[in-house]
Amino acid sequence: MIREVLRMGDERLLRVSRPVTEFATPALRALLEDMRETMDHLDGAGLAAPQIGVDLRVVIFGVDANPRYPQAEAVPFTVLVNPQLTPLTADEEDGWEGCLSVPGLRGLVPRIKRLRYAGFDIEGRPFEREATGFHARVVQHECDHLDGILYPMRMRDLRRFGYTDVLQLDEVAAE
Ligand code: NI
Repeated sequence: MIREVLRMGDERLLRVSRPVTEFATPALRALLEDMRETMDHLDGAGLAAPQIGVDLRVVIFGVDANPRYPQAEAVPFTVLVNPQLTPLTADEEDGWEGCLSVPGLRGLVPRIKRLRYAGFDIEGRPFEREATGFHARVVQHECDHLDGILYPMRMRDLRRFGYTDVLQLDEVAAE
């Protein structure tokens, strides 16, 4: 079922979400199905459970030749539960991001360039992966939602924040 995505200003987006303790349950499967349908419907690159009002540490992301991000590298579709991020460098890079909870806007956000992420799939199987660049950016953006952080809170220069159709960006944007 396509769910309503909460928009910035809703206090539910500011909560620290709870870890998932039971895997492979009908409730968790239904949540993932709703998240995927909602993300696909809105053509997003990722979605976190708090964005549909569920305070659990669950994110999904994936980019497959998305027409909105013609220069974006493909990111495999991933379900990530109870994620843990480990930076593999102190180096950051700036990149344009958007968010389904902040519709119509884009901002330039610094993110760690390279990291390892670990977590569980829906069945409770642990996995880990290394990511760089756009992939690493998407993971950081989505996992921030689990701690109540929206990308404008990460920005250092609010002059680089504006409406997508005014900014006329040709750079990659994460959602
Ligand atoms: Ni977002």
